[in-house]
Amino acid sequence: MSSATGTDAVLQQFGGEVAARRVEALYLTPDIAHQREATLAQLALRSGERVLDVGCGPGLLAEGAAAAVGAAGKVCGVDLSATMVELARRRCAHLPWVEFEVADAVALPGPAERFDAVTCTQVLEYVPDVDRALDELRRVLRPGGRLALVDTDWESCVWASADSSRMRRMLAAWDSHCAHPQLPRVLGPMLARHGFRVEKVTGVAIVNAMDASNTYSEGMMAMIAEHAVRRESVEEFDARAWLDDLRERISRNEAFFSLDRHVFLATRLP
Ligand SMILES: C[S@@+](CC[C@H](N)C(=O)[O-])C[C@H]1O[C@@H](n2cnc3c(N)ncnc32)[C@H](O)[C@@H]1O
Repeated sequence: MSSATGTDAVLQQFGGEVAARRVEALYLTPDIAHQREATLAQLALRSGERVLDVGCGPGLLAEGAAAAVGAAGKVCGVDLSATMVELARRRCAHLPWVEFEVADAVALPGPAERFDAVTCTQVLEYVPDVDRALDELRRVLRPGGRLALVDTDWESCVWASADSSRMRRMLAAWDSHCAHPQLPRVLGPMLARHGFRVEKVTGVAIVNAMDASNTYSEGMMAMIAEHAVRRESVEEFDARAWLDDLRERISRNEAFFSLDRHVFLATRLP
């Protein structure tokens, strides 16, 4: 099994133009728009605040944060992928109080304690050294500043299919797409060990039932099939049959997909 961890693996998934555009399309679905709204609601940004979005991807959350803090505030985004940073810059070009740069979550640029709020959504599960990243998130936050993390527990994934053992093989293969496929269940104690007080943990369920066109699950299907074949030696015919079954269910309006993500809201202790 080739585990997808580390910088090279992240850049394979998010570095190329096609891959970055695919993630952008996925993150424009109503499912992920709802996730962003839920995350920003927890953070409750105020006018004039300084915000850092770590692993900003195509800049959608940064754009939402920019609207909340206004021109009196400041939003910075960093991502390991230069392609993502370019997409984010284009998205927010009309917002002069927003800027982006290429950087790693485990080595954030700039001095300490300069942000009122930090977000890191669907990123830490890709970072092999989560402890180092949490140290960095804490370093750049001012004491009392808020941190919002979002991660997925892939074991919560339920997907209706014609062949449950094939479904289990495909989801087991998908586990290696990131370093920590069940991160939320350990994040609370990790945050406490790194000098944060966990204020609230809320669930964001992605549920695509019946008509699953233009949804997160529809967008994920091809990515999971490609990963399973390229990185986990699942036979192509097996992955193809899995895809055909799910696509047919969507065409009949008989799909069912459910996945749990969690928003951790924490404050930096002095
Ligand atoms: C699934 S996308 C999420 C994008 C964005 N946070 C959002 O919620 O819209 C994951 C992003 O994390 C970035 N990433 C992964 N590991 C990273 C690291 N160590 N440092 C910075 N960015 C990283 C990837 O390049 C990718 O853009």
